[in-house]
Amino acid sequence: MEVLQAGVEEEVRRLVARELHDRVAQTLTGMLVDVENFKSEQVSWQDVVQQLDGIQSSTRQVLASIRQLLHDLRGEEALDGSFVDAVKALLVRFEAKTGIRPEIEITEGWPKALTPQASLNLYRIIEEALSNIRMHSGAKSVRIVLGPHAENELGIVVEDDGRGVDTDPSRPVGMGTIGMRERAMFLGGHIRVESENGHGTLVRAMFPKDLLVSHDTVIVAKRKSS
Ligand SMILES: Nc1ncnc2c1ncn2[C@@H]1O[C@H](COP(=O)(O)OP(=O)(O)O)[C@@H](O)[C@H]1O
Ligand SMILES: [Mg+2]
Repeated sequence: MEVLQAGVEEEVRRLVARELHDRVAQTLTGMLVDVENFKSEQVSWQDVVQQLDGIQSSTRQVLASIRQLLHDLRGEEALDGSFVDAVKALLVRFEAKTGIRPEIEITEGWPKALTPQASLNLYRIIEEALSNIRMHSGAKSVRIVLGPHAENELGIVVEDDGRGVDTDPSRPVGMGTIGMRERAMFLGGHIRVESENGHGTLVRAMFPKDLLVSHDTVIVAKRKSS
């Protein structure tokens, strides 16, 4: 995950640098040169108006570029399509890459529509848990359950059958775990990691339902697939 995250950050940084250079800095530099030249000319009022028109149009161009850039950056902050579909697609890619067999269970009461922030952050939590399974667990299979956890709580479980993890709270945790906790906290929830050595690892994330669900929620019927 860290590697992937670093890759994405690097890509975003390059996109921002490129766009700022090509579309913002270049246009502003051109405007400065134009204005500088214009000041040294003997001009009529008509020329002034024409020059102002030019500045206006360049300013619009720069603004449009900045808006486009902001749009592109925000684009990362939402998932394409539904959360469940995105997770299923992630699992297909995970299996192809790792050979670890995934199974997903969506139990009755899982909301059909989540808020965009919930979708993205829950997706990232699952992504990190899967990344840990790939890198550290030696697991053969992974099981994800999305469903109600307690009354007014939704839960996500990512469970593997690998070597397990030391859950001693005094043990220093990695950036991946810190990131998962931060994302859970951001959604008003928390994360618990359960493990008995040699008997796999279970990451459980729990959230107040109200904070995840978007309006017009329809409850999906019980569904199981792998
Ligand atoms: N599913 C897992 N199976 C076995 N060990 C795990 C699992 N998930 C995490 N770990 C252990 O917990 C540590 C911390 O994980 P994390 O915070 O994501 O940091 P990182 O992945 O960068 O090492 C890992 O280095 C690994 O030793
Ligand atoms: Mg990790």
